Amino acid sequence: MRDDRLADIIAAHSHREGALLPILNDVQATFGCVDEDAVRSIAAALNLSRAEVHGVVSFYHDYKAKADPRPVLKLCRAEACQARGVDALAAHAEKAAGERVHIETVYCLGLCSVGPAAMTNGDVHARLDAARLSTLIEAL
Ligand code: FES
Repeated sequence: MRDDRLADIIAAHSHREGALLPILNDVQATFGCVDEDAVRSIAAALNLSRAEVHGVVSFYHDYKAKADPRPVLKLCRAEACQARGVDALAAHAEKAAGERVHIETVYCLGLCSVGPAAMTNGDVHARLDAARLSTLIEAL
């Protein structure tokens, strides 16, 4: 089943120029990770070495080697959000999340003028304060 889905993803993109990133995006979205088996299959299909594929996977933070079943809050820690106080919010977020929610650091969500910003389930949230952050985490 998993092998069939992986093969379908690879087949859907392998004819394209620059197929690696679309394949990795779909594999991550479908399986929650890009594990060693996927790296091996993708490398073989694209005629790349496993090291080449692994290098791309490890470069981008969005690709995970193992699936993490916890919900995720992506918290922007880039410069504009830092200037708007995200560092003080980060400790609050970790405490509110505990072990149940994974707080992932990202660098810019495109909401620099209205930060601090975060993303949950593909939705972006701006002008965060401790109370709004707690509400977002509780809703996950
Ligand atoms: Fe945080 Fe751009 S720096 S959204």
